[in-house]
Amino acid sequence: MQASRPAHGSRGADRGPAAARPAAAARRPRRRRAAGPVAALQEPSPQPAPAPPALNLPDGRQPWWNVLKQLSRPAAYFSDVLKGRDAAVGQFGVFHDTAFIGSPALARELLGSEERSGINVGWGPALVQLVGERSVSMVADPEEHARQRALLMPFFSPDVVAAKMPAIQATARRYLAEWVSSPAPFSAYDGMKRFTFDVLVNQVLELSLDDAEVTEMSRTFQAWARGFLPPAVDVPFTPFGQGMAARNKIRDKILSLLAAGRLPPDGLVARLQSHFGGDTEAIIDNIINVQFAGHDTSSSSLTSMLGALAANPRVLARLADEQAAVVAAHGEALTPAAVAAAPYAAAVVRETLRMRLIVPGVMRKAEKDVQLAGGLSIPKGCPVLVAFSAIADREPAWEADRGEFRPERFLTGGSGGSGGPEALAPQPAGFNPFGIGTRYCLGSHLALAEMGAMVAELGRLAGSHALEVEQPGRWEEFPILRPDNGLPTRFVAKPPGAAGRAPERELLSAQA
Ligand code: HEM
Repeated sequence: MQASRPAHGSRGADRGPAAARPAAAARRPRRRRAAGPVAALQEPSPQPAPAPPALNLPDGRQPWWNVLKQLSRPAAYFSDVLKGRDAAVGQFGVFHDTAFIGSPALARELLGSEERSGINVGWGPALVQLVGERSVSMVADPEEHARQRALLMPFFSPDVVAAKMPAIQATARRYLAEWVSSPAPFSAYDGMKRFTFDVLVNQVLELSLDDAEVTEMSRTFQAWARGFLPPAVDVPFTPFGQGMAARNKIRDKILSLLAAGRLPPDGLVARLQSHFGGDTEAIIDNIINVQFAGHDTSSSSLTSMLGALAANPRVLARLADEQAAVVAAHGEALTPAAVAAAPYAAAVVRETLRMRLIVPGVMRKAEKDVQLAGGLSIPKGCPVLVAFSAIADREPAWEADRGEFRPERFLTGGSGGSGGPEALAPQPAGFNPFGIGTRYCLGSHLALAEMGAMVAELGRLAGSHALEVEQPGRWEEFPILRPDNGLPTRFVAKPPGAAGRAPERELLSAQA
């Protein structure tokens, strides 16, 4: 939440608990007064309790004016604290001392099994209220968390997502047809939000909402998401107050859908109902969490992918060539074989996730004293921030050209590669767009399918339509990565007979 963003981490509301005291101020065992020889015989002198370990990471604390950057430029701020080191102490939230982690090995040690390493989520109360304390992302009890993951996992497995691909592709085509027929530029960011929201509510939650209901609920969600902006005070005129009002509206809508009893008996919502029984609030918390965790994240990535394709005509042309070959060999449907025959499309998706990391870091707190490899220690109660962005910044495989949008880095084989057919290469340790370990993204396959369907359709469209995008002045990072101009976009039909113009495809007239 989202830093992790909420579901995923470094948003403003995601403050860790009380700050750990710096090393110098660490608690020392109290001295007992000497009580004389008699007292010494009656009462064996107790061993002094061992001193709790200090937060002994290198000091990366920043001057106060730079600390403010954590909201506007979290990834850059994490790099300022870590300065390429494996770990450092820096301030997070309202100047709390926090253990920043910037190495893939330490990240795995901590996040791989959080119960073993002794860390856990430590969300701020505002975030918990907005998302819902009973949701899988917010719940801290390890057993209940594992139970809820097991409950939800089957709905997001690779096979289940592959079975949903025809519906996801049809939804992508419907939205693209609408955008292509729009005479004026449309906001790609708003369009992608509606697309991912549609997929979530209709394909995943199976709520059977019509277009008007999808648009209405998606808008309410945007008001809800603004609730992450500080200050976290629940009065009607603050973003948080308005976010909570939006949450009540979403809750009422879910209640009316549950009461209507039209939901499929074997679907995700029915599964939540049989797990939680009459505990309606836990069901609502989880529905809101799934909508939230899987809506803005995917739409941000899709928007950034569209922007990158427009800015890199070479990539778009190669994608178009690959899709033309895939359609010729497999037809229009994105069957597993058609998807497997398009490694370049999958590499474009991965490169998008690498270039603009949606979740730059995830927040935790130490539940006990934590000893890490290399003699590093984090005392109980200390907030911990695993900075995926800083880890990616240090990935040696990307050293030479990390600022370039070059999907080929995720491929192996092919004529320019190491021989053999072109295929996806193993992912380097610095690539963690979906997190690590215990709280690894439940919807990663779904996100890849949404992006995969959209990138394939964009590649196919490129034959007949030019993609025109007004690039943003800046990509805002808070509360989630987005272009400051909404990414105005147009698809302009290439004139008949234009070089490389492909024949008009059915998508553009089908509207379905
Ligand atoms: C490009 C899109 C996405 C990105 C970059 C992303 C990223 C992440 C990350 C980094 C985490 C780990 C958070 C942590 O460790 O605290 C996470 C967790 C989660 N994600 Fe995603 N996500 C995406 C799409 C989705 C989708 C489509 C869903 C579908 C519902 C989803 C559902 C979840 C859930 C439920 C969790 C919480 C898992 C838990 O706490 O056990 N995500 N996501």
